[in-house]
Amino acid sequence: MEVVVEAVNLVKRFGSVMAVNGVSFKIEKGSIYSLLGPNGAGKTTTIKMLSTLLKPTSGDAYIAGFSVVREPLKVRRIIGLMPQDLTADDEMTGWDNVMIQARLYGYKGREAEERVKRALDTVGLLDVATRKVSTYSGGMRRRLEVAMSLVHDPEVLFLDEPTLGLDVQTRRVLWDLIRGFRRSGKTVLLTTHYMEEAEVLSDRVAIIDEGRIKAEGSPEELKSRIRGDMIRLELYTDIDVKGLAEELSRLGLSYRVDSNTLTISTYNAGETLPLIINMLAGKRVKSVNIVKPNLEEVFLEITGKRLREESFDVFKYRVLTQRIR
Ligand SMILES: Nc1ncnc2c1ncn2[C@@H]1O[C@H](COP(=O)(O)OP(=O)(O)OP(=O)(O)O)[C@@H](O)[C@H]1O
Ligand SMILES: [Mg+2]
Repeated sequence: MEVVVEAVNLVKRFGSVMAVNGVSFKIEKGSIYSLLGPNGAGKTTTIKMLSTLLKPTSGDAYIAGFSVVREPLKVRRIIGLMPQDLTADDEMTGWDNVMIQARLYGYKGREAEERVKRALDTVGLLDVATRKVSTYSGGMRRRLEVAMSLVHDPEVLFLDEPTLGLDVQTRRVLWDLIRGFRRSGKTVLLTTHYMEEAEVLSDRVAIIDEGRIKAEGSPEELKSRIRGDMIRLELYTDIDVKGLAEELSRLGLSYRVDSNTLTISTYNAGETLPLIINMLAGKRVKSVNIVKPNLEEVFLEITGKRLREESFDVFKYRVLTQRIR
């Protein structure tokens, strides 16, 4: 395995806040690696340290062998960064935004133009390159940010929440783009709090919470941590969940309660289901489902938290979009 990105015990402290608390991982060349975690988990702080924007309190990371602490300039030639807070200038065209990046990297004249063109073409924005960014949709803006990170043809791409707040359709367009980077041999590190995104896109996933990696592996490996089946009961609010839970305990079944949802773990759903149906006799239930473990379940198991799509900070996103507009 050829390791292109290696984080070694990264720590970042802001005053009394341990934003990143000893994070280590390795990313194989030509793969997609995801940091999956809730708001405040330390994803952006990790990406900022890897991209030399923040100095670690302790620890180090190596990009293609170069230390982010000791050789930041060498690292910067190799990496492209799409930050979580979008940076394109609304009042300029897509073309001009990317051109500024090209100039910042020192490209001039014909070469600069070629690079801008290629970057915009890669993300599918060449047709609208002469339009002001203020006329772009959310998905187009995100793609423009990706183009801005591509002008120097980086080997490694850091994408911080590349699909934040986008609808599922538009997210797919970005997923295809990111898969394209992998096909062309680039290495991608992305952060997300969308389970599905981590699951369908990544070769490996690190589940990060409270500044630490709680679990790491391929989506399949992570899912195989949960053995057996799960039976999920969605209940009406007027049902005595506590009473049901006590009955489950008496039957020797392990379960988890999450507001109106009861999730029961069992080695054999076929045997357990009749017991549960019996238990529910005379009670009104919204739905009963046998659930196959997915990353959502793994996340819940490991962190004790649910990572719903709604759990992303809507207010923060609004502030973000207001700033763009
Ligand atoms: N400059 C800073 N000064 C003080 N605290 C900070 C700073 N930057 C981040 N933090 C804190 O560090 C923790 C990790 O923040 P970070 O932005 O890395 O999380 P995140 O996983 O990217 O979250 P989100 O999903 O909301 O983007 C949070 O508690 C945050 O409040
Ligand atoms: Mg973040």
